Amino acid sequence: MNVYRYSFFTFLLIVALLVPSSVAVYGQASEQVLAGEKIFKAKCASCHKLGTKLIGPALTGVEQRWVDGAEHAGVSGRDWLKRWIKNWQDPVKAGVGYAVTMQSYDVSAMTQFPELQDADLENILAYIANPPADVVPVTTAATADGGADTGSNNTYWLIGLVVILGIIVIGLTIVSGSLNRLVLEKEGEPIPAAVPFWKNRKLRAVVTLIVVIYLSNAVVVGAIDLGRQQGYTPIQPIKFSHELHAGINKINCEYCHTGAAVSKHSNIPSISTCMNCHKGIKGDDPKNGKYGKLEISKIYAAVGFNPIDGNYFENYVAQPKSYIDSIFTIWLSDSKPVASKKNVEEVLAQVQQPVEWVRIHNLPDHVYFNHAQHVTAGGVECQTCHGPVETMEELGQHSPLSMGWCINCHRETEVKFSENPFYETYQVFHDRIKAEEMDPKVTVEKIGGTECQKCHY
Ligand code: HEC
Ligand code: HEC
Ligand code: HEC
Ligand code: HEC
Ligand code: HEC
Ligand code: HEC
Repeated sequence: MNVYRYSFFTFLLIVALLVPSSVAVYGQASEQVLAGEKIFKAKCASCHKLGTKLIGPALTGVEQRWVDGAEHAGVSGRDWLKRWIKNWQDPVKAGVGYAVTMQSYDVSAMTQFPELQDADLENILAYIANPPADVVPVTTAATADGGADTGSNNTYWLIGLVVILGIIVIGLTIVSGSLNRLVLEKEGEPIPAAVPFWKNRKLRAVVTLIVVIYLSNAVVVGAIDLGRQQGYTPIQPIKFSHELHAGINKINCEYCHTGAAVSKHSNIPSISTCMNCHKGIKGDDPKNGKYGKLEISKIYAAVGFNPIDGNYFENYVAQPKSYIDSIFTIWLSDSKPVASKKNVEEVLAQVQQPVEWVRIHNLPDHVYFNHAQHVTAGGVECQTCHGPVETMEELGQHSPLSMGWCINCHRETEVKFSENPFYETYQVFHDRIKAEEMDPKVTVEKIGGTECQKCHY
């Protein structure tokens, strides 16, 4: 037999066995997910989200909940789940305990979908278990870190790619090994003992290279996520406008950010600060801003204020959500601009939940930065660092917040030395300036503002 044809055949066999099988699994899974996504968006999305509750419960992890909790009368929990989606009364009538409890989750009942076939149900479940990246359930832990999620989908692709490449490399090494042996055999030369593929040097080098590329990619992505970027403007849970409040209505920055002048951190105002004004400004006046009631209602939903009778709900968190929902649905029904389904959903999602502002500025932990020192002692305007905030409808990070940015300013900026009680301790400087031994222009650098330990813990 021809050596080349023989080894080519082996090669094809290996590739055919290993590579496409894994590709096929990927392909099939994503097709299923896409089909499921289509059905979900058309039939379910009006009442369900994956990561948070809407009218129905959040569906992430639902399969496991039924598998664990709904096995009944010899039928698996997963099958009861499929029957529920088709017609929820079916498992309830059969007395499946989980379904009976679930039934009273909300006063409104779930729609029935008798038209769904088994394949449709499988597709929906595949989608819920594995949503594509742009609908990965967003958990509400956004306050602390802004919920950076970039690249997790890429990571899966990368891992997939590395696995496939690895398989190809192993396949090729085996093939080239057997090819060599065949050639030697034909020429009657002694055949060296076979080297197992994991001892193969070339293979090791390739694997190491792949691992190194993968890790450095991960490190770079991680590092970018660590420091917030200049220009970072996340979508906030309420469309709060600095332009409208600090600009047009001339509300002082410190009215809301009370900490900036007196402490290390500036603070984001609590929602009760908003209520100082919004107990009265409800957005129901035709002259009101462009969102009317739509955005202000989220404040009420979070804090537990009934805009219809103008009182706070008693025992707010203990009230049934469906009751609160109905009040806000009525309140929004005559809204101008007209409340879309999505607008209403957004308000209802805020019911009994704290407003989780996404943090924008975030220095690394090893840096010490103090607002009061800059604002009060240094007399630096908020805008010098944060830009023209009073013109920003949506607030973003104006300055780079890099080390160079801090240091440049410390080199250029004079400290307001005279008549500043903060600097009485620098008596030596005062004396020397008086004696005209020293330039009265003292930059932050001169008082030690570029020493590493001033900014680093
Ligand atoms: C009209 C609103 C509505 C629509 C549309 C809807 N659901 Fe529901 N769903 C609910 C409600 C409400 C519940 C909670 C049960 C109750 O209160 O009756 C629920 C419960 C569920 C549950 C059980 C959740 C758990 O945690 O165990 C699943 C699963 C589910 N729905 C899937 C779906 C799927 C899949 C679709 C689309 C094919 C869909 N739903 C469409 C309102 C809806
Ligand atoms: C009526 C209250 C209010 C006033 C007045 C106000 N802010 Fe804010 N500010 C907020 C709220 C709420 C947030 C969080 C939501 C957002 O980022 O838009 C915020 C966020 C910020 C942030 C970003 C914080 C972060 O996450 O890193 C900065 C910087 C800021 N404000 C500066 C200012 C400056 C400067 C002024 C004055 C020109 C000002 N604010 C006036 C309420 C206010
Ligand atoms: C000192 C008073 C005051 C405070 C405090 C205040 N607001 Fe306002 N807010 C106003 C005024 C005035 C308007 C403009 C009303 C109008 O013209 O329609 C307004 C309008 C709004 C609007 C509607 C914007 C539009 O275009 O429809 C939203 C949303 C809003 N505020 C959110 C907040 C939030 C969130 C807070 C707390 C962080 C807050 N406000 C604190 C006075 C205040
Ligand atoms: C010298 C530059 C500078 C000035 C002046 C300044 N800030 Fe900041 N601000 C920063 C930096 C840097 C951060 C990020 C701090 C961190 O991550 O610890 C920040 C963060 C914030 C935050 C987010 C909460 C926090 O403390 O991390 C708010 C709100 C804020 N600034 C408001 C203000 C307001 C209002 C003023 C004016 C009264 C002001 N800032 C003046 C540099 C400045
Ligand atoms: C817009 C100019 C400006 C920027 C930008 C700036 N600073 Fe400053 N900084 C000052 C001024 C002015 C002072 C002097 C006020 C004082 O000492 O109280 C100062 C003082 C300091 C001090 C005290 C120095 C000492 O010797 O007592 C520290 C620490 C500091 N800044 C850290 C930072 C860090 C960290 C950043 C960057 C995240 C930064 N600053 C960005 C203007 C700035
Ligand atoms: C005026 C404040 C300030 C001074 C002085 C300062 N740093 Fe920094 N440094 C920073 C800030 C802010 C960052 C964070 C930069 C970022 O996140 O991009 C930083 C980051 C760093 C980093 C981490 C690398 C990076 O870019 O994130 C190192 C290392 C460092 N500084 C070393 C030093 C050394 C050494 C000195 C003394 C020569 C010094 N720093 C002085 C403010 C300062």
